[in-house]
Amino acid sequence: MKPMRVLITGAAGHVGSSLVYRVAAGDLFGLQQPVILHLYDIDKMLPELQGEMMELGDCAFPLLKDVVVTTEIDEAFGDVDVAFLVGAFPRKKGMERRDLLEANGKIFPAQGKALNDYANPDVRVVVVGNPANTNCLITAKNAPDLDPSQFTALTRLDHNRGIGMLASKLDAYVSDITRFTIWGNHSGTQFPDISHALFKGKPVSELIDFDWYEKDFIPAVQQRGSEILRVRGMSSTVSAAICTIKHFKSWYYGTNEDDWVSKAVYSTGNPYGIEDDLYYSFPVTCDSELAYSIVEGLEINEFCEKMMKISEQELISERDIIRDLL
Ligand code: NAI
Repeated sequence: MKPMRVLITGAAGHVGSSLVYRVAAGDLFGLQQPVILHLYDIDKMLPELQGEMMELGDCAFPLLKDVVVTTEIDEAFGDVDVAFLVGAFPRKKGMERRDLLEANGKIFPAQGKALNDYANPDVRVVVVGNPANTNCLITAKNAPDLDPSQFTALTRLDHNRGIGMLASKLDAYVSDITRFTIWGNHSGTQFPDISHALFKGKPVSELIDFDWYEKDFIPAVQQRGSEILRVRGMSSTVSAAICTIKHFKSWYYGTNEDDWVSKAVYSTGNPYGIEDDLYYSFPVTCDSELAYSIVEGLEINEFCEKMMKISEQELISERDIIRDLL
């Protein structure tokens, strides 16, 4: 079987290194498919990457055919089938969102060009590095030979945070909750929507109090990342890596029947009147290998529309800030 080449940028960082070992162990493609890992980071992290490569060797993962460790972009992106773009500057104290956008925005045009020029033309891309939706737009725009549907940004962590909290409220298993959606940006404006969610086939909205939903649940999902940072002084790592893998697996193997996942995808032509030319999180189904569709025909009430628009406006303003990078 031909090995799949999987690129992880920022592979020496917290999320990147958590991903590395999971992909090497076969979490992405199952226990038959060999993989070649491409580990990419900036020059000063080379010793970290080399140490990581040694540890990978020590694990003797049966499916790990080879490891490419590099700080050269053409080598890192060469022939890759899957690209997890995790590497980015973390937000530092006192940094405004605008500063983060400008600092991280600069990383992604070069990576878009590298995907365009060196990757497998069928490559599938998951942007994790924040601000993930707008970084995804920058990357896709700098890869004109690739289709915008080959690019996605991670909101699966937000999605799973939401179903985890609902399951806890309803004293249920997460697998009992379906059709939950994160709309919009992976940020504090994201909209966790229960208006179509079901618990064992019953509307969740009939089982929980709207006041709790609006005042407790929505802010808790929106602010979960900051809360983790506050509690332990470090942002989400393992949960981000696991949800990155779940995001890709839904795309590769398909979503469960009668359910969907949340994924930030290209908005042009979407059925909900969201502005074109953004990467916006929608409810998405994946029916066959590496194809996806935005779920159509959902009724959007006034409350939901208002919340969806707030996040849309934020993404439009982010795009205005980095327009020269597109
Ligand atoms: P980290 O600071 O531990 O690691 C970041 C890594 O990226 C470092 O090794 C750094 O050297 C590398 N890097 C910096 N510039 C780079 C460049 N130009 N090319 C390649 N690599 C570069 O950060 P952590 O915790 O691993 O988070 C990584 C990113 O993922 C952050 O932007 C974080 O905000 C984001 N994130 C997104 C989530 C989501 O749900 N979308 C969830 C959790 C994290």
